[in-house]
Amino acid sequence: MRRRPSVLVVDDEPFVLESLRRLLEADGFEASTAPEAGGALERLRGREFDVLVTDLALPGSDGIELMRRARDLVPDLPVIVLTGVGTVASAVAAMKEGALDFLSKPVEPEALLALLRRAVEHGALVNEVRRLRASVQELGGPPVLVGNSRPMLELLRLVEAVAPTDARVLIRGESGTGKELVAHAIHERSRRAGRPFVRVNCAAVPASLFESELFGHRRGAFTGAEEDRAGRFAEANGGTLGLDEVGTLPLEAQAKLLRAIETGEYQPVGDARARRADVRVIAVTNEDLPRRAKEGTFREDLLFRLNVFPIAVPPLRERKEDIPALAEHFLQLLGRRGGIARKRLTPAALEVLSRYDWPGNVRELRNTLERAAILEAGEEIPAEALAAILEGGLAGGPASPASASPPSSGDLRLRARTNELERALLREALRATGGRKGEAAARLGIDPRNLAYYLRKHGMSGADAE
Ligand SMILES: Nc1ncnc2c1ncn2[C@@H]1O[C@H](COP(=O)(O)OP(=O)(O)OP(=O)(O)O)[C@@H](O)[C@H]1O
Ligand SMILES: [Mg+2]
Repeated sequence: MRRRPSVLVVDDEPFVLESLRRLLEADGFEASTAPEAGGALERLRGREFDVLVTDLALPGSDGIELMRRARDLVPDLPVIVLTGVGTVASAVAAMKEGALDFLSKPVEPEALLALLRRAVEHGALVNEVRRLRASVQELGGPPVLVGNSRPMLELLRLVEAVAPTDARVLIRGESGTGKELVAHAIHERSRRAGRPFVRVNCAAVPASLFESELFGHRRGAFTGAEEDRAGRFAEANGGTLGLDEVGTLPLEAQAKLLRAIETGEYQPVGDARARRADVRVIAVTNEDLPRRAKEGTFREDLLFRLNVFPIAVPPLRERKEDIPALAEHFLQLLGRRGGIARKRLTPAALEVLSRYDWPGNVRELRNTLERAAILEAGEEIPAEALAAILEGGLAGGPASPASASPPSSGDLRLRARTNELERALLREALRATGGRKGEAAARLGIDPRNLAYYLRKHGMSGADAE
């Protein structure tokens, strides 16, 4: 059974307090009373209340002040204020401060009870919304794509257009631009929304296990396969399969993926029987796949199959108008996560954010704000704090620093300079070997596999030899 809703009543007249207490208890509320603000705050600290009812004129402090301090303790606490004769002005002030409603004294019992029921309902709703929002954000969805810049609106238009179809989508963009978020948004707006959205990070799956990861395996199919395992295709049946970093798939895996996409059938490892799965594939990459196809490291036929509907997510520096809204969004998320009080940016701080080029895109913005919010004790994040973080390159810069404005030679940021140097060395080795990667790797003194990693990291390919 639901517990009785609890009300704290504050009034300096003992007679009013006592009669209200009786009225409330007779109607199924649990009522506590306090004759002045100090005692009321004490009680609010001690336990939870569903509603606060307070007189506006209290000894020592007024009801509005009490309301403010009560809300510091319990944000969103519904408050009903009681006003004496001729205090309409202060009642209006109370409403402005966020009181749910006011009643003039002497209090009409039925009116008070009706208001209280509404307040309890309202409070429950607010709590429910807050709880849902928090869990939704924790889970990362349904995803909110923040931003009203032209490029962002265009992106949203594409998302809305393609979502309800079953078309395969290839999402391309620099690191940290929000590609995964876009993939998820498409799923959530599709008719498959109630079904699973299964993500596979292709870069994280070892080549030898890719087939089993995607299509599953039978027990005993290979050493270590101790149980039957359903693969990601099976898990995503009826829903969407998000293939992250699809460009990292080895050629052999590409061939198998192509077959599954073409026929809608797949074969678990060690099983002769083919299975069917109704899966929509959304692929994500920060590489130039057409170029990879020309070089022969990505199957052209697979590219055609994946690239039915291409979506390019623009880098943040091309939509700086989105920065204020994004910053607001992230600070709000941080504030909700607990441990970090809600922070604000000074106008100068916002200016710093808008001037920076964000090679790590939205993720770098998010990390920068998180860091600043943790480091700043005060309610406001000043410009200097952000500048220091950005100078230090501490917020996790780009994995692919395709920045429009390459760091000038006077730039001393370690990460930016290291990246710059890496790119120069890669280019030089490729040029010297005419783009032959094996030789280039040998020249650089690294394993060819690591060369592939560095090229991906910098969005380069053998063609960067010229
Ligand atoms: N428009 C946006 N609105 C709100 N949050 C965003 C937006 N774009 C990106 N983000 C947030 O920024 C972070 C990075 O986004 P995401 O992981 O989707 O980037 P990505 O393009 O997949 O990066 P990578 O290529 O490195 O995997 C995430 O926390 C995401 O929620
Ligand atoms: Mg990603």
